[in-house]
Amino acid sequence: MLQELYQPHPEIAQNAAIKSMEEYHALMAKANEDYEGFWGDYAREKIDWFKPFDTVLNESEAPFYKWFEGGELNVAYQCLGRHLATKKNKAAIIFEGDNGDQRVLTYRELYYEVNKTANMFRNQFDIKKGDRVVLYMPMIPEAAISMLACAKLGAIHSVVFGGFSAEALRDRIIDAEAKLVVTADGAFRKGQPYMLKPVVDEALSYGCECVKNVCVVERNGEEIHWEAGRDYAYLELIKNESVKCEPEIVESEHPLFLLYTSGSTGKPKGVQHSSAGYILWAQMTMEWVFDLKENDTYWCTADVGWITGHTYIVYGPLAAGATTVMFEGVPTYPDAGRCWKMVEEYQINQFYTAPTAIRLLHKMGEDEPDKYDLSSLRILGTVGEPIDPPAWKWYYEKIGDSKCAIVDTYWQTETGGHVITPLPGATPIKPACATLPLPGIIAKVLDAEGKPAAPGEQGLMCITKPWPSMIRNIWGDPQRFVKSYFGDCSVDGKAVYFTGDGAIVDENGYITITGRTDDVINVSGHRMGTAEVEAAIKKHPNVAAVAVVGKPHPIKGEGIFAYVVLKSEDTIAEEMSMVQEINEVIKKEIGAIALCDSMIFVPDLPKTRSGKIMRRILRALARGEEITQDTSTLEDPSIVERIKNCCKSAGI
Ligand code: WTA
Repeated sequence: MLQELYQPHPEIAQNAAIKSMEEYHALMAKANEDYEGFWGDYAREKIDWFKPFDTVLNESEAPFYKWFEGGELNVAYQCLGRHLATKKNKAAIIFEGDNGDQRVLTYRELYYEVNKTANMFRNQFDIKKGDRVVLYMPMIPEAAISMLACAKLGAIHSVVFGGFSAEALRDRIIDAEAKLVVTADGAFRKGQPYMLKPVVDEALSYGCECVKNVCVVERNGEEIHWEAGRDYAYLELIKNESVKCEPEIVESEHPLFLLYTSGSTGKPKGVQHSSAGYILWAQMTMEWVFDLKENDTYWCTADVGWITGHTYIVYGPLAAGATTVMFEGVPTYPDAGRCWKMVEEYQINQFYTAPTAIRLLHKMGEDEPDKYDLSSLRILGTVGEPIDPPAWKWYYEKIGDSKCAIVDTYWQTETGGHVITPLPGATPIKPACATLPLPGIIAKVLDAEGKPAAPGEQGLMCITKPWPSMIRNIWGDPQRFVKSYFGDCSVDGKAVYFTGDGAIVDENGYITITGRTDDVINVSGHRMGTAEVEAAIKKHPNVAAVAVVGKPHPIKGEGIFAYVVLKSEDTIAEEMSMVQEINEVIKKEIGAIALCDSMIFVPDLPKTRSGKIMRRILRALARGEEITQDTSTLEDPSIVERIKNCCKSAGI
């Protein structure tokens, strides 16, 4: 690991929201002394309340914390309406299509589009406060417009990433009991049209009685099936709607959205976020971490199907009054210079992406950035997985010309916004290290007893006080909420939030995230539950047992590695077709993002006498590491050697 520290650049520090480590420590001290005062002041300053709140934090039903009770607001108003007085002609969204299409929506235009869409949802589909709306959308402005239209009405959106299959979509629709699905015919990717509406048709054909209507945006113009009385064309309906729409004023804790994410066991869980606490932190972190200035153009390459797209393409930038770029395509099309070309063309000031993309662009086009003028860049962000020092260095030197601040932002779907990250004008940065908790976030690396882990020792990444943008519940499953997040770590007998990640703290308090300690793997920065992939593989009729583990991958960070026990003894030729067949099943059950990078067929899995699969052994074997675990407790210790031989003959 690289040890050097890079000091913040004076020009950035001079104009930053938090300008020095002294300011950082002062804010932290304030949060420690008067936690509620700290948050209450920011909430009063940052949010345009329709009715002020009475209490800052109510802990009486912990861990079901309530923030800013008594307060009333509307998140769409916070993101759009309130900006009209000062920014009506400022670009809110700059859209670039895969094919180079461009579209700019000013704050006024976006406000009108959101109002029309909200009116349409209400008038045509009877969407009211609290109703759930599933969005299965490509990266086009209508995705953001639909999210904000839901917020305007107090309806709860649940965006499902467009790469998920019909089965996965159906599960999410049913769990959320959605009344309306908003989708597009499809979109464009690498110069080719791809389809979404047929996936919605298929999902609904599996039985989603809750869904009354489907609203379809035309994007790629391909032929699609229309179900009479159920499906309606977005662009047709919206023509007749008024640009005026009164916001539905909601209470602080009213759910803003659900977003399904993978856990270590069972089906994906619907992470529920609040209105006030979420938008407060989305806006504040946008201002602090990305050093936002009035004339900046900010670009986050995520997809709105993930939390990064929610908080840092739509809600954070718009609440902060920024210009946010939305890109439909992929960073490598038509070549590995696409992002850098866009940085030059739009004079991007903040660029935010995942380490996987950085590694890929580095590998595909090491010197590609030289062809473009990247001098507008000031802040470079990464998110989603640990970044390795070589990728960090290339990002810092080649993309940032050693002049930009790199913010390695650590957070999760559940945290709503950043929790551990450098501040560009204050924090000396250490390559590949998320550094320090943000002011107001009381994050600690704990040992198994709930004591702070010693410097250099691996511990558990916990947040020991509730914070405004934290997950409020798992939709429909409060017990799972408590168990998943407050079941593992406690301090002085009080359950604290455990992230599921391991971390190491150094003598200066700098935190390096080491990755998940549970059965969640991080593939290209996308969270995947091994249990989910296993459940999918088990649907193949010839699979007797399966165990899935993560294995380091040079580009993706982690790859999916499956050990499969077949019911019938197959020959090698048949195994080849089994790989294909099993991958087809995964594609159908989850989507192509969960395809296995390696699959090997083994006679059995290493199980203890009580039947528990020893995953640690499987993880070590996948990595080609020596087995250090005690194998004597296994039901059949010889299985390790036999699996090893299978790995060997498969070239692993
Ligand atoms: C991982 C994405 C190291 C971590 C915002 C976490 C990171 C999971 C970082 C959440 C980072 C995210 N360094 N690891 N900067 N950022 N992670 O819910 O394992 O899709 O628990 O949210 O990504 O993934 P999620």
